[in-house]
Amino acid sequence: MIEITFQNDEVKLINTQNNVSETVLHFGGIHNNLTTISSPKLLQEYIHMLENYSTIQKYTYGETTMIDIVALTSLIYNELMAGKHTEIRALEVGSWFGCSSYFFANSLKTFSDSNILFCMDTWQGSPDTTSHNIANYENAFEHFKSVMRYAGVYDNIKPIVCDSTVGMDILQDDYFDIIFVDANHTYDYVYQDIIKGIRKIKVGGLLMGHDCECYADELPPHLLHGDNKHLDGIEGYHTGVIKALDDIFGRSYNRFNQSLVWYKRITQEDKDMLLKMTSEFDYDREGIVQLVETMKEAIQFIYNNISEGKSETIQTLIFGTVQAANQLEKEIIPLCEKYNNKDLKINTNVLKNSLLDFRIAYDRDFPQALSVLESRVIESFNVWVECFTESGM
Ligand SMILES: C[S@@+](CC[C@H](N)C(=O)[O-])C[C@H]1O[C@@H](n2cnc3c(N)ncnc32)[C@H](O)[C@@H]1O
Repeated sequence: MIEITFQNDEVKLINTQNNVSETVLHFGGIHNNLTTISSPKLLQEYIHMLENYSTIQKYTYGETTMIDIVALTSLIYNELMAGKHTEIRALEVGSWFGCSSYFFANSLKTFSDSNILFCMDTWQGSPDTTSHNIANYENAFEHFKSVMRYAGVYDNIKPIVCDSTVGMDILQDDYFDIIFVDANHTYDYVYQDIIKGIRKIKVGGLLMGHDCECYADELPPHLLHGDNKHLDGIEGYHTGVIKALDDIFGRSYNRFNQSLVWYKRITQEDKDMLLKMTSEFDYDREGIVQLVETMKEAIQFIYNNISEGKSETIQTLIFGTVQAANQLEKEIIPLCEKYNNKDLKINTNVLKNSLLDFRIAYDRDFPQALSVLESRVIESFNVWVECFTESGM
């Protein structure tokens, strides 16, 4: 059991089993060069913010534990006490109902009203998790905004409703002081979110994320293999997060003791590594063309036969095209990164979403499915092909 204590001007974590304590926040002292806020006031603000934990958790159905919130906010406080503390630009990728967003934004706001937290989320929940089902009957984005308003931090938040695979690209490079990654936890997504995070953060900025239980070499060996990294979590481990971190940083990132929060100060070498990774990139054009050809045939077949009514063949083909669109996205996004082709990236995402919506319409609202097929799937497929051909890739 871990206890959080506030003593004198320190916040400590105490492990009650072995009585080992660790100071995570020290108010005052040599690194506090704040001119506008005195240390006792900061400590009071910090305690007051944590006292809101159970209320915020209740309204956000937050799964982010108190210890993870202490980890997140301690890192932010330390960052802002040690250096620049106004005009901070921070980004959270994955906000959901706003549990971490509240504590993130509140910590920033304590130092200055000029600090801004950008919150990027689809607010559709992560595929194959309960959040996705909740998003089907509740407007998660409205819920997020209400909680942030009620909690008094909405003025310091700028929401960006977008899939991070495309949303991160519209942001300026080298712009953010702090980034926190907590969106889709499967390997490909985490990998991309971290890589893009490195690009979007300033040199010297703090990149952090959630749901890292251990380093990859501490994982039970059987979890390191097979498809485990493509799951949201297995046997209490977020293998996608752990493996992506390992592939990008090796062991050279930090874990905040007792919590699931990881962090890394981004250096020029990290940014250079990114350039090296993309210049070594090779791709299978033939494979992509074949995949697109298969999708075309499937869509054509569905279009020709859909008026006959619902059938298992069509259902299987729809499922297959959605999977193909996911595969296409996986192959094409790194390519778009390399050639800086934002249009193709956006069109890939539009195509995938149109197929997802088509699948839902086919399952739930069959008459509507034909119109989704005609007006969105076929349209976005043609636009995609045109864009890919024009790109000369
Ligand atoms: C684990 S929750 C975030 C929890 C939040 N940080 C908290 O403390 O409550 C993951 C969020 O990521 C979002 N998400 C999943 N995939 C995404 C993607 N590709 N782009 C943007 N957001 C995504 C989901 O909609 C969900 O809101």
